[in-house]
Amino acid sequence: DSPPLFLDLAALEEAARQQLPAAVHDYYAGGAGAEITLGEATAAWRGWRLRPRVLRGDAPPRLATTLLGEPVATPVGVAPWGFQAMAHPDGERATARGAAEVGALMTVSTSANTALADVAAVTPAGPRWFQLYQLHSREYTDDLARRAGAAGYTALVLTVDVPVLGRRLRDLRNGFDLPAGLPMANHPGAGGAPVSMRAAESPAWTSADIRRLADLSGLPVVVKGVLRGDDAVRCVQAGAAAVWVSTHGGRQADPVVASADALPEVVDAVAGEVDVYVDGGIRSGSDVLVALALGARAVFVARPTTWGLAAGGADGVARVLGGLTGELSHTMVVCGLDDVRSVPRDTVVRAGRPAG
Ligand code: FNR
Repeated sequence: DSPPLFLDLAALEEAARQQLPAAVHDYYAGGAGAEITLGEATAAWRGWRLRPRVLRGDAPPRLATTLLGEPVATPVGVAPWGFQAMAHPDGERATARGAAEVGALMTVSTSANTALADVAAVTPAGPRWFQLYQLHSREYTDDLARRAGAAGYTALVLTVDVPVLGRRLRDLRNGFDLPAGLPMANHPGAGGAPVSMRAAESPAWTSADIRRLADLSGLPVVVKGVLRGDDAVRCVQAGAAAVWVSTHGGRQADPVVASADALPEVVDAVAGEVDVYVDGGIRSGSDVLVALALGARAVFVARPTTWGLAAGGADGVARVLGGLTGELSHTMVVCGLDDVRSVPRDTVVRAGRPAG
């Protein structure tokens, strides 16, 4: 089956908005500070222009790739996002089913409403990674990392851009906190007393934790939230298997450099030693293609999957991921490209600049 060609994300976003209580919508949609990073994320991808190749034959483009050795049907994956039961009663389970339907990788958040082993059980074949925050204590967090390894997750994603929670003004204005009654399934005393969103703050981590957590979990470690070349190099030297360029969806420091603008610096700095992934504001197949051309091995999306999940459960998630993949496929055909694993850098040029 070829993936669908038309994805109406704006309609899905609107449908999700109508489903959700206003404060939950604000929590999903919002950013930190003046939301400058949030507002610039998509535009930064669209500051690039494609340079199609012609007369390249009619082979359908190859969309499948591998991520740390894990085969996936598409380079578009689900970024970790918390509290999915606020979007849909089946929460993370539905997202897992939707991602598996299209062969996309799902990254499951520490802040999930479903225990990591229970998400894994929904789609035993994966592919799935576990995103780690430092919770409660080092001992507790180490145990969580070990359990992720035992439950069949194939990488740990260390989110390093939350030493403290971002100043999210919408949430502060709304007095937003997690609805009582939703289990914080990976937290100590799961399902008991309500847990604050601040429980995920992870100020104590250092680069030494990269190798330590890899050793104790038996999993490769991806460092998420890197925006500088020098930090990327430090992570690689400390044992990271990959780095993930991210502004945390504009929810942490603001204003920061857009992911699209940080990506080339990070790709150059790691010089092919490890994979580089990216997220933030990716909303179309051509955004994906720009990221691949700039050197990302894969891209991830969060908010579009919040819309898919809220508006359509597992099918909605599959529609988002399948739709972005379909648009990517189409864009590759019209650009004369045949493989997501090798999109040449000269496929893109900054808008308004001569190529070369
Ligand atoms: C997030 N993000 C996030 N990241 C993470 O590492 N752990 C988490 O639990 C969460 N939780 C979370 C909740 C919500 C509602 C959002 C919107 C985001 C950040 C996320 O993984 C990702 O970096 C960005 O959101 C990607 O940008 P887009 O696709 O949302 O523009």
